[in-house]
Amino acid sequence: MKTQVAIIGAGPAGLLLGHLLRAEGIDAVVVERQSPDYVLGRIRAGVLERVTTDLMERLGLDARMHAEGIPHDGFNLADGERLIRIDITALTGRQVMVYGQTEVTRDLMDAAPARGLEVIYEAADVALHNVESDAPSISYTRGGAEHRIEARFIAGCDGFHGPSRKAIPERVARAFEKVYPFGWLGILADVPPCNHELIYANHANGFALASMRSETRSRYYIQVPLDEKIEDWPDDRLWDELAVRLGPDAAAHITRGPSIEKSIAPLRSFVFEPMRHGSLFLAGDSAHIVPPTGAKGLNLAASDVVYLSDALIGYFRRNDADGVAGYSGRALARVWKSERFSWQLTSLMHRFPENGPFERRMQVAELDYIANSDAAQTSIAENYVGLPL
Ligand code: APR
Ligand code: PHB
Repeated sequence: MKTQVAIIGAGPAGLLLGHLLRAEGIDAVVVERQSPDYVLGRIRAGVLERVTTDLMERLGLDARMHAEGIPHDGFNLADGERLIRIDITALTGRQVMVYGQTEVTRDLMDAAPARGLEVIYEAADVALHNVESDAPSISYTRGGAEHRIEARFIAGCDGFHGPSRKAIPERVARAFEKVYPFGWLGILADVPPCNHELIYANHANGFALASMRSETRSRYYIQVPLDEKIEDWPDDRLWDELAVRLGPDAAAHITRGPSIEKSIAPLRSFVFEPMRHGSLFLAGDSAHIVPPTGAKGLNLAASDVVYLSDALIGYFRRNDADGVAGYSGRALARVWKSERFSWQLTSLMHRFPENGPFERRMQVAELDYIANSDAAQTSIAENYVGLPL
């Protein structure tokens, strides 16, 4: 098979890119290792910046997002008795949209056939070939048969564990990484949220987050040590701990219910440079990971895809290769700013086992500063709502 852009990975990055290219008449095929159900079974964050909602609108795939998503004007930082509300709309004139990443993926997936975007699921052994040439290809096996897709470009949208990043030689690459000494234990339950806005809480027992998917579905997280076992957290223990960490006001409004999903995810900051090598581009989690504090993962994938689709549309429609040459630099400039914000919010709101009383006083002083400074609140708000492209 021949196409113009072979896309590896049918997560949000790969599907958004495929749709944007198809909308411009550019041929693209997406190759995904998992089944559609598996892809939709992954529960991820649920706060969309304008960059992401704008893309869904540009694609005309925003109807369900606008019907079911919840626009938020603010969020809260809790520290002991103190609750600091960050009024993002008053401070920036913008809102964020609470709508699950799973739902974004579902909307993109459902629309693919009608938009002429072919997605090949359950493709095993995906391998990249000749990425330094103008005629790269990918090979894969499916149903016992071997297949090859020849393309002008390959877009590696295959997440942190995919093969694309590894196809860039070490001699030209550099990776930056910070692994945090804890993870997030998340629970999804069909109960009303305890608060109409998100609460990020720093408690002596560790961080907690109260989030939501809808008026009737809640998503909560607590910080746990990396070696914690999910079996040690029956629902009741988790609800008890959330009530302690989120503080008495939120606790009074927590509705308990059986978990419909419960999992532990490690926290990591990671950036890989460059994001293009020859005819291979990286976008989304294949090139960078942020800790979930601030929900930047999907939104960064969306901004990568804005830059990458611009570059590819310029190349194929206007014979202009400048965007291709500039992609990595443009994307990384925004990536590093989101990395900084996610790392800073993680550092501010978590209890680090290696930290002592001095570091704790620094957290308290910073939260105090934020509580009393419009400038500090504006800085947090403009990062949370999303920096300009
Ligand atoms: N071959 C084909 N597909 C692969 C392979 C492979 N060898 N390895 C991984 N994939 C697929 C995964 O199964 C997944 O569906 O690539 C896709 C990558 O999707 P995501 O992990 O969702 O990454 P991305 O699209 O970059 O989205 C970034 O999603 O991971 C979250 O928190 C992250 O919000 C961020 C956003
Ligand atoms: C979520 O709802 O899953 C969520 C929200 C905000 C975050 C992280 C996760 O910062």
